[in-house]
This record gives sequence, C-alpha cells and structure tokens, in this order.
Amino acid sequence: MKVVSRVETLRSMMAALRNAQRVGFVPTMGAFHHGHLSLMRQARKECDIVVVSIFVNPTQFGPLEDYATYPRPLSSDKIAAQKSGVDILWVPTVAHLYPEGYRTRISVGPIGALWEGERRPGHFDGVATIVAILLSVLRPHTAYFGQKDYQQVCVIRQIIRDLHFDMTLRILSTRRETDGLAMSSRNIRLPPHARRMAPALYEALQGARLAVRQGRRLGRTITEAVIRHLHLAGITEIDYVALCHPETLEPLRRLDRHAVLLAAVRLGTVRLIDNILLSAR
Ligand code: PAJ
Repeated sequence: MKVVSRVETLRSMMAALRNAQRVGFVPTMGAFHHGHLSLMRQARKECDIVVVSIFVNPTQFGPLEDYATYPRPLSSDKIAAQKSGVDILWVPTVAHLYPEGYRTRISVGPIGALWEGERRPGHFDGVATIVAILLSVLRPHTAYFGQKDYQQVCVIRQIIRDLHFDMTLRILSTRRETDGLAMSSRNIRLPPHARRMAPALYEALQGARLAVRQGRRLGRTITEAVIRHLHLAGITEIDYVALCHPETLEPLRRLDRHAVLLAAVRLGTVRLIDNILLSAR
C-alpha cells in the first residue's frame, strides 16, 4: 500500500493507472470501523486499484461541531486499510485541498436544506464541495458510499449527475453492531448508559417495518409508532422521524410504493442517525 498526500503525486500515479485499470474510490474521514472496511472490501472485489482517502473536511462541520476533536487514529487506520486490500491511501492536508485563496463552494439547493441540513446548515454544501474536489482529482470509475448516510448519498447522486462526473456510484448497506446500532466513528463517544439505549433507534425503525407489513400506510401513523417506541426506550430528544420519498427526500403523506424512513436522535451530546427503506408490497 502506498500512502500519498500531495495532489500532484496522486495525479501522476493515477494518470499511469487509469486507462488500463478500473479505479475504485472510498472517500472517508478516517477512524475506520467495519462500515468503512466493508466499502473497501467491496471496492477490492470489483476494481483493479482501490484508493481510499482520509480527510476530516473542515467545510462540512458547523462552528459548534466537533471538527477539532473528531477522532484521527491515523496509524491504526493505515493498518486496517492495508489489511482490507487498499492500494493507495490518500491523506491530504487542509492546505493541499483548500490552498490559500480557495473560494469555491458548491451549493446543492433544496436537498441540502432538509432533515440533517436543517440541523446542520451548510453541511451538505461542504460535503458536496469536498466530494467534488476528491472526484475531480482522482476521476475514479466507481465510488463507494454507505446507505447509513442516506441524505449524503442523495446529495452525491445529484452532484454526479449535475456536474457530469463520468463514474458509477455504489451504495452499500449499513453495517451494524450485533445489537443493531449502526456503526459510526462517533459511537465511541456514547457513555455506557447511552450506549445501552442506542440500539432502540434501529429497533424503532424495524417496528415501523412491521407496522407496514400489518397494513399501515399513513406517514403520520408510521412515524408516530417510531416515536412511541423511542419514548418507551427513554429516548426523548428526537430531531426528526420522517417517511420520505427515496430520491427527493420530501415527506410522504402515504407509503404507496417505496420510501425511506429517516431518523435522528440525540443521546446527550452524541447524535445518532439511521434509516431503513420501506416498500408498500
Ligand atoms: P465518514 O463518516 O468517514 O464515512 C465514510 C463512508 O463510510 C461514507 O460513505 C459513509 O456513509 C460510510 N459509512 C459510515 N458508517 C457506515 C456503516 N455503519 N455502514 C456502512 N457504511 C458506513 O461520510 C463521510 O465520511 C464524509 O461526509 C465524506 C463523504 C468522506 C466527505 O467528507
């Protein structure tokens, strides 16, 4: 595995490789868990060259968020990436990707203002900006993202389409702890009592799946069932629970065909997000 930082170094390496070989790319902010590693392994299966980036992107963090304290365990990440079959680990610095004089910011419009975007203003513009930079430097054939961050996937799908990136987007299912909690680099921040409550989020979403099987179709009925389950489990700080159109993320009054059920809760200072896909049949 080669570790590179500078854009120019990566560019010249890629120029030699890209024409003959399929390049798979997994963008990350590091602090790897099995969710990240599953993306790398899938890329390894499908591509000739696997590139992973680690970059804690300042432009997607709000002023009160955890940019400064985001975990950065680079040496264990290097080992995990190597074991997962990564060929090139790209670890740029802020100065490499946002050099002095950098001004451009991508604005993703309405999709970035809903749900997570409402609680984290500017977050998705920051995600779109960095992902566009990474993709235009690397120009992979395929990029891999997790369903865990469902709204992020919608944003990335939009920029790939709108900016004509010539590549395939692969979305892989959410990796979970054995009790159902979606893996996340921030889970280590959950104090023990909050960690014990956390699996209730996925249980509540699964409860909605059951309600749909039993014939419930109204958005309100479905989301209220989720909220009731969360309250029973002692989770009271609920940012949102929403039944949404799977592409536009607009709220749905009824589940007629397909939908995504999005939820975000707070356990003390840690926010958890999760989602499941639902279909009427
Ligand atoms: P990060 O949170 O490090 O996540 C990197 C990738 O791993 C994302 O595609 C994310 O959806 C995926 N992922 C996270 N948890 C997962 C899980 N439990 N199962 C499966 N996949 C999971 O998302 C980001 O970084 C950044 O916003 C980034 C796209 C790199 C832009 O800065």
